[in-house]
Amino acid sequence: MTPHALTRSLVPPLVALGLIAAPALAQPDWEDRHRDGLAAIVEQWLDAGHGDYDSPSFTYWNKDGAVPEDCAACHSQPGFLDYLGTDGSDFGVVDAPAAINAPIGCASCHSEAAHDLDEVTFPSGETLTGLGPDATCAVCHQGRHSGDDVAAATEGLDADTVSSDLGFLNIHYGIASAVMGGADLRGGYHYPDQNYAGTFEHVPSADTCADCHDPHSTQLVDSEGCMSCHRGVEDLRDIRMQHDDFDGDGNVAGGIHAEITGLQTQLDAAIRAYADEVIGTPIGYAPGSFPYFFTDSNDNGVIDEDEAAFPNRYQNWTPRLLKAAYNYQAVKKDPGGYVHNPRYLLQLLHDSLADLGTVVALDLGGRPRP
Ligand code: HEC
Ligand code: HEC
Ligand code: HEC
Ligand code: HEC
Ligand code: HEC
Repeated sequence: MTPHALTRSLVPPLVALGLIAAPALAQPDWEDRHRDGLAAIVEQWLDAGHGDYDSPSFTYWNKDGAVPEDCAACHSQPGFLDYLGTDGSDFGVVDAPAAINAPIGCASCHSEAAHDLDEVTFPSGETLTGLGPDATCAVCHQGRHSGDDVAAATEGLDADTVSSDLGFLNIHYGIASAVMGGADLRGGYHYPDQNYAGTFEHVPSADTCADCHDPHSTQLVDSEGCMSCHRGVEDLRDIRMQHDDFDGDGNVAGGIHAEITGLQTQLDAAIRAYADEVIGTPIGYAPGSFPYFFTDSNDNGVIDEDEAAFPNRYQNWTPRLLKAAYNYQAVKKDPGGYVHNPRYLLQLLHDSLADLGTVVALDLGGRPRP
């Protein structure tokens, strides 16, 4: 369908859903005007990830011919409609494999079921209510694990003994909703006896997904608006309200983003030091290759191309290593985490480092816990 025909066909259903007002008899050009507005929305959507027909998010299963139930709620529009029960099936489960090449189209968020959706349950079992237009976002941007899964997998095992029962747990991707909820949703692994920051309470005008992201382009609605409070910065990544030197590098000039990436780099080094010294099998992280942690066979400190292969995935997990690696990946997989919930992510990184530091020698002096 051409964008023109698509937008024309959209007018009646959007009227039915109350998204646009019904035409008054005195306005014969009504449909044309709305078609222009809708054409702009369709353009924005096509330019964004949700409308990207070629993305791995919608083509990964093409070799299999269908998106399996486990994946379909977030990776296929018919799968999402099935999850919501729009197709007459039960709410909250995907009952059948869904179509490939089916990105997150208009009908995903503009069915009656999607408009009515107001609460969403996360992998931890916690439910958020009163979500309004953020509810659909939370279904798909919640990740696939919580820190509870890490706690359950490692329960009763000795912290520093390799267990063949353990494998890497990957929180998944685009996990903004889980990160924003912080301790209330337990997306990260929480070390016992520590308190973690809950839902990020930013400011009333920029507190929800829909406040900041245009739902069609997914881009920031108004970055000028951000700068009206965060004065004197050119780049969002330079924004800073917490002034401690969380990564202990002696530099507090950059944004909070720099403190997060500083701690991330240190945690990466600590994970490698732990695997070397305590386990005796070197590990490394390959950002673009599932399942991310591989054996660094030649021990050169990086995962080379031939090492980033599934059969070479890291298989010598101890509970302590799994917890740190899980949190490392959780922070890595929310590139907007410094806006969504910086304090929570800093805490996860700080505590993971400190825990590794109880068994390997790390210089952790002077880093305040966020
Ligand atoms: C049915 C699942 C689903 C829903 C609902 C959903 N998303 Fe997404 N979102 C995705 C997927 C899948 C991607 C990755 C798309 C890609 O790889 O091209 C994505 C990507 C994004 C991105 C990354 C930038 C981009 O354009 O790729 C942002 C930001 C985003 N979504 C925000 C939102 C917001 C805000 C909402 C709610 C208004 C929302 N999403 C609702 C599944 C969903
Ligand atoms: C709860 C929703 C959800 C479920 C269920 C889900 N995914 Fe995803 N997945 C996402 C989102 C959101 C993204 C896109 C993140 C982004 O690009 O911002 C994504 C991205 C991906 C990508 C692209 C990764 C990349 O690096 O670009 C692959 C591959 C993928 N998922 C595989 C799977 C598989 C396989 C399953 C089922 C076993 C699955 N997903 C189930 C939400 C989900
Ligand atoms: C990821 C979810 C999502 C997708 C996909 C989506 N929308 Fe929307 N749309 C929203 C949200 C959220 C709003 C704002 C509703 C609110 O504030 O209550 C909205 C608002 C609208 C409005 C009201 C006018 C406006 O701009 O606010 C129209 C019209 C609309 N969408 C059309 C479309 C069309 C056409 C498509 C497909 C090209 C589409 N939408 C795809 C989430 C989505
Ligand atoms: C205060 C504004 C704000 C709020 C609230 C917010 N975001 Fe974001 N988000 C951003 C900014 C800014 C970025 C881009 C960060 C960057 O690239 O440096 C971002 C990045 C993202 C990304 C990653 C895009 C990518 O490049 O892969 C996703 C997905 C996302 N947001 C989804 C959401 C969802 C879902 C919600 C609601 C739970 C939400 N965001 C709430 C401002 C916000
Ligand atoms: C009305 C004023 C106001 C507006 C508008 C505003 N912010 Fe904020 N922002 C704050 C305040 C106050 C805090 C501190 C909140 C806290 O730590 O509890 C903050 C914190 C932050 C932080 C974390 C800084 C740190 O050091 O932890 C980031 C990043 C951020 N805002 C980004 C944004 C972005 C992006 C936008 C625009 C989408 C935005 N802000 C709009 C007032 C504002």
